[in-house]
Amino acid sequence: MTEQELKGHIRGIPDFPKPGILFYDISTLLRHGPAWKAAMAAMAARVTPYKPDLLAGIESRGFLLAAPLALELGLGFIMLRKPRKLPGPTVGYDYALEYGTDRIEMQADAVAPGQRVVLLDDLLATGGTMAAGVALLKQAGAVVPAVAALIELSFLEGRKRLDVPTETLLAYND
Ligand code: PRP
Ligand code: MG
Repeated sequence: MTEQELKGHIRGIPDFPKPGILFYDISTLLRHGPAWKAAMAAMAARVTPYKPDLLAGIESRGFLLAAPLALELGLGFIMLRKPRKLPGPTVGYDYALEYGTDRIEMQADAVAPGQRVVLLDDLLATGGTMAAGVALLKQAGAVVPAVAALIELSFLEGRKRLDVPTETLLAYND
């Protein structure tokens, strides 16, 4: 399936969640079996060269990519979650939003030192979420050879905030 065909399965919903924002909705891709499978196969091809030991996904839409991709590649999957969701000892990373701050957490024992973890999310916008995920994984002792997202909002230049190779499948310029 070509990039254009995959894009045909993603719809842009204007003024969601706020006026002026065009929301790229992957629900229509996920609900189409062959398109979802093709998207996952293309993501697998992007991620495999980095030889990950594990894949990590960022709650919640990142889970929709990272878990099936890990299964496809025969790798383990770890969760980066919103605060106070994970049981047992956790490590966290606080990051700035346009207004206020946010935090993501993972279980303290999720990665062994030096393990190669590729981090996945559905969408790279400003890059704040992905950058926080990379920082958290590195803080926990992981090597992060790359990050990957299905969609990149190129005009927001989120990849400039990332200090690791950034693989994205479908770029949008507006
Ligand atoms: C969205 C999206 C990414 C993040 C991208 O998540 O799924 O995780 O925003 O934005 P950024 O690059 O500007 O940080 P959201 O917080 O809407 O939550 P969800 O995944 O739980 O729907
Ligand atoms: Mg998200």
